[in-house]
Amino acid sequence: MQVLVTGGLGYIGSHTSVLLLEKGYDLVIVDDLSNSNEKVLININKITGKNPIFEKIDLKDKDSVSQLFKNYDFDGIIHFAAHKSVNESVNYPEKYFENNVGSLENIISEIKLIKKPMNFIFSSSCTVYGQADSMPINESFKLKKAESPYGQSKKECEEILETHHKSDHPFKNITLRYFNPIGAHPTALIGELPLGTPENLVPYITQTAIGKRDYLTVFGNDYNTKDGTCIRDYIHIMDLAHAHISCLENLMKVDDDNFFKVYNVGSGKGTSVLELINLFENVNQIKLNYRIGKRRAGDIVIAYADTSKIKNELNWETKHSLENALKTAWNWQLNIN
Ligand code: NAD
Ligand code: WQD
Repeated sequence: MQVLVTGGLGYIGSHTSVLLLEKGYDLVIVDDLSNSNEKVLININKITGKNPIFEKIDLKDKDSVSQLFKNYDFDGIIHFAAHKSVNESVNYPEKYFENNVGSLENIISEIKLIKKPMNFIFSSSCTVYGQADSMPINESFKLKKAESPYGQSKKECEEILETHHKSDHPFKNITLRYFNPIGAHPTALIGELPLGTPENLVPYITQTAIGKRDYLTVFGNDYNTKDGTCIRDYIHIMDLAHAHISCLENLMKVDDDNFFKVYNVGSGKGTSVLELINLFENVNQIKLNYRIGKRRAGDIVIAYADTSKIKNELNWETKHSLENALKTAWNWQLNIN
């Protein structure tokens, strides 16, 4: 089984690639290295002992994508590649539409030319729900207006996939709406590599703990939550990576091009910013320098997933604890410094 993993040297893509290789899949990793580097490939090899094919291709380039599909005979595609900075997307929205939407369209054009069934998995985000009216969030919730061009690009991708599903040439598709992935591989050889100042909480925590940042600002403690700080659904990266394996295995068994599903992938538990900080301090025996600051504009107050659909239909569930996610995130930070 040959599987194309776009963005396979990125955070989620690299962890998923490791599991796919361990399961014996033949991989073609495509990445333009815009938010990753080739060392990740070496570390994937160190973990798995395998050498996946790597193609440095920019998926925005239609001709390169066309050539890619001429050179290989994919049975499955996991499309991770995208830009993901919410802040950057506010200042450069066109960059986000061009890459996130444009790359997907280029890939779909090629899938449509393939005669055999295609198993396609798309990386979407809980951001498409905006501030949901109740918790936990299930897949049938009405999507809210996007809070950022990044969020809008993910909503557009979902719409494009649905449009193709309703066309005369549908292909099998699972769209995964990830909640907040954190942590790293147990070997600490791969993990999240934020460029510049991290936007996300856990990389900011680990960089503060190691002394790269003076202190962490908690964005507001006056929300209507248990301790006044925002609540999120943090999911261990290894559990998230496993969800892709479950999806791919299930998709491959389905004999229906009209198969089209959307699943939340989260832990199903809501954790506040202060709870996460306290847990990080406890599991790693480190005192974190943090201050309470102002609210961050556009922040969702509470978001956590109802994960019953993926549990019931794909038999996937989380196996790793939040404690372990924070331990591995710290080990990864120690290893990259
Ligand atoms: P990442 O930036 O670590 O990985 C994305 C990879 O795609 C990078 O290696 C980058 O170089 C590559 N890439 C980007 N544009 C490309 C292009 N045009 N051609 C080829 N390669 C390209 O991000 P991630 O955290 O691994 O996220 C993977 C996917 O999951 C993205 O689609 C993201 O939007 C989505 N997602 C991420 C999160 C999160 O918190 N990390 C949450 C929800 C959804
Ligand atoms: C988590 C919590 C912050 C940093 C992002 C993307 C979203 C989706 C999921 C991709 C919030 C607080 C953070 C800091 C803090 N990703 N925080 N101090 O907000 O859920 O969203 O990841 O699709 O699109 O926007 O994650 O890690 O940024 O924040 O207090 O320095 O931590 O306010 O409550 P978020 P996050």
